[in-house]
Amino acid sequence: MQLHPQTPLDGFAQRHHIEGLSMPSLQALTQGQDGYSIHKAKQFLAFQRRINNEMLKHRVITRNPYTAWFEKGIQNPYQIKAFIIQFSVFSNQFLIAQLHKMVHADTLESMRASKEILANEIGVKFKSIQQTTENRGLGSTEGSIEGSRFSFNAAHFEWLYHIAKTLDLNFSDIGQPKHGTQSTLFFCNELIRLYGGENYQISQAASYAVENWAAAGFWKQLINGLQKFNDRTGMNLPLGFFIWHDKLEVQHAAHTQEELEELYFTQHLDEVKFIHYGNEMLDGVAAFWDGLDEQRKELAAAH
Ligand SMILES: [Fe+2]
Repeated sequence: MQLHPQTPLDGFAQRHHIEGLSMPSLQALTQGQDGYSIHKAKQFLAFQRRINNEMLKHRVITRNPYTAWFEKGIQNPYQIKAFIIQFSVFSNQFLIAQLHKMVHADTLESMRASKEILANEIGVKFKSIQQTTENRGLGSTEGSIEGSRFSFNAAHFEWLYHIAKTLDLNFSDIGQPKHGTQSTLFFCNELIRLYGGENYQISQAASYAVENWAAAGFWKQLINGLQKFNDRTGMNLPLGFFIWHDKLEVQHAAHTQEELEELYFTQHLDEVKFIHYGNEMLDGVAAFWDGLDEQRKELAAAH
C-alpha cells in the first residue's frame, strides 16, 4: 500500500526495477550525474542485500541480552550506577573518536559534518530550520550548529552527570578511562581505530555500522528500563540524555543510507572490505554490551 501519491521518481524506479534506492540517488540518476547509471543502481541494490544479510544481522543489532534485561527495569542501585559510569566513559571517549574522524575528513563537507556532531556533543545546540518546540530544553535534534551558541549545560556529558549526581556519584567517579572496564575500553578503542580511522572507506563502514546499531532501538529499551526504575524506586533520574539521543537516531538512519549510496556511486567501494570492517566495528559494540551484561550479573547479589 502506498501512503503517498506516486511521484515521477517512483515511476522511474519501477520502470527500471530499482525500487529501494533513496530519493537523492534516484534524482541523481534521472539527472545523469557523474557515476550514476541504472547498471550501477542494480549493483548497489545487490550490495545492499549483502549488507542486510551479512552485516545488519549482527547479534548486537538483532539480539542484545543486556538491553533486553535493562528494559525490565529491575536493576538494583549498583547496577544502575555501573551502567551510568560505563556510559560516561564511552561518552567521553566518543569525543576523541569524533575528533579523529573530523581530522581525517577528506573533504570540507565531511569535515563539517563531523564537526557538527563534535560541537553538538560538547555544548553547541542544533538550530532547527523550522523553529519547533524542541528548540527549548535540550535543543533540537536536527538543523545545524551554524550561528548557534555554546552553553556548558548543553554538553551531553553534563546530562549524564545530572543522572550520576542523582545517584550520589561524584564528578570524579565518572567519565575517565580509569573507570572503564576492559570491555568498555576495548569498544572505545575500536571506535577510535575504525570510526575515527584515517582510511575513509573503513571509517565509512564503521560509521554505517554504528548508525544502524544506534537506530536499532536500544535507546528506547534503555528509556523504558530507566522509567520503570524511576517508578519503582521513586527516584527521579533525569532521562534527557537518553530521550534526546533516541530522537536523534530516527533522523540519522535515513541520512546514513543516503551517504552510503553516494559513496557507492561516486567512488569505487570495496564491498568485501566494507562488510568486513562494519562487522569488526559491531564486534566492538558487542564487547561493550557483553561487558555490561557480565558486570550486572556480578552486581546482582550486591546489596
Ligand atoms: Fe551524544
